[in-house]
Amino acid sequence: MSNRFSNTISRRRLLQAGAGFAAMAFPTFRPGQATAGSEYRITAKPARVPLIGGGYPETAVWSYDGAVPGPEIRVRQGERLRVAVENRLDEETTVHWHGLRVPNAMDGVPHLTQAPIAPGETFVYAFDCPDAGTFWYHPHQRGSEQVDRGLYGPLIVEEPEPIVVDRDVTWVLDDWRLLPDGQISDDFGNMMDAGMAGRIGNTATVNGRLAETFAVSGGERVRLRLINAANARIFALTFEGHHPRIVALDGQPVEPHAPDNGRVVLGPAMRADLVIDMTGAPGARFRVIDTFYRNLEYRLLDLVYADRPLREAPPDRPIRLSDNPLAEPDIATAETHEVTFGGGMMSGMMGGGMTERGMSGQGMMGMMGRMMEGMRHGGVWTVNGIAAEGHVMDPMLTLARSRSYILALHNDTAWHHPIHLHGHSFRVLGREGAPTRHREWQDTVLMAPRERVEIAFVADNPGDWMFHCHILEHQSAGMMGVIRVT
Ligand code: C2O
Ligand code: CU
Repeated sequence: MSNRFSNTISRRRLLQAGAGFAAMAFPTFRPGQATAGSEYRITAKPARVPLIGGGYPETAVWSYDGAVPGPEIRVRQGERLRVAVENRLDEETTVHWHGLRVPNAMDGVPHLTQAPIAPGETFVYAFDCPDAGTFWYHPHQRGSEQVDRGLYGPLIVEEPEPIVVDRDVTWVLDDWRLLPDGQISDDFGNMMDAGMAGRIGNTATVNGRLAETFAVSGGERVRLRLINAANARIFALTFEGHHPRIVALDGQPVEPHAPDNGRVVLGPAMRADLVIDMTGAPGARFRVIDTFYRNLEYRLLDLVYADRPLREAPPDRPIRLSDNPLAEPDIATAETHEVTFGGGMMSGMMGGGMTERGMSGQGMMGMMGRMMEGMRHGGVWTVNGIAAEGHVMDPMLTLARSRSYILALHNDTAWHHPIHLHGHSFRVLGREGAPTRHREWQDTVLMAPRERVEIAFVADNPGDWMFHCHILEHQSAGMMGVIRVT
């Protein structure tokens, strides 16, 4: 396992070998192909992209419009977004608008909310965007392979009056399992990934590049929108020498606060908007590192200060975003449902799972045995005892429209799971019986091994909504269900 991390085929090694790539620019987004107002046309198709860069061979990917990430889609809050999606892949696809409260028919779940988009066909998604914030889009068809191969892009819903910053920057994070020739390893669907931490890769990218540096200026205030588009990798980012404040989670504003222990933790699909004041000296260099997996510090890139500061000190302007129009759950009258997530390898055997401890060869054999057994019985992961198979699913819960609900979630496994509900945002009320500090709104909540988390929301969006783990290998190995709002 650890060699998957250390064995990065990194351009950094080439750099150390003396080759110079100083001219490598930090990738920024070209605006998407806006046809008029907030209308876009995007095409899913194979492409080759300079993921590693620096003269390294390009990587064959599946892309929107030939780029990874796909174009940054922008729309103003309250306005209508229309996206025509053309499928030029060799297989069916769909697009899901992660975190957006869309009408059910626009949710992009194949066989549940729409027929898949066949190769050569185009499907037009159109919906209003009630919430401002940082969102993203990705296929919901064979997600563990389609998203992993590069199909994803950022979607920003702009506030009518945004907070005042010098730069509004998006970093889409991803994690790739690359072979020494720079190509994506095609060992999709392997059982080790399915039953354990998911498809963890060996190379982390920012905006589809193995980035080296990010240029900043002293006295600058940056709004940094982080999106974790990885299938399975959890990021815990530390900005050395800086004090970022979290102003939104999963697109939803939160009371500005410093991240716990200075680490911004993002499970797959989760987002955080940070405000970072650039207070370093001219020419200074600071590392941005990921320290989620124990003993495996991963340098994402360096913040590099310009020789000339922008101004003496960052502007002192308010950074609290205005709340979105979410219905407040009535906790006093809310009905509670228990949801238990089970299965996976080594449950109850090692306590911490592989993300925290090593694994013995014997443990591995026993684990594989139980896993084969699990696969034979239709899945490796369960929600309330059921491992979902195939597409069409009966609802695990039916909720009455406009009523408030509490879901008492229990992660009864040895692994982390980022649990995502479609069509709604929910408040994270408590963890392990203690109230959360910010009662944050999220659409994806990261659960630690064995953890209990309480979430609450008003079931105000009618339809059949997926409720699943966003470690996409876990999802396809059974960790999903449907919540019906009637
Ligand atoms: Cu981001 Cu059901 O997905
Ligand atoms: Cu999971």
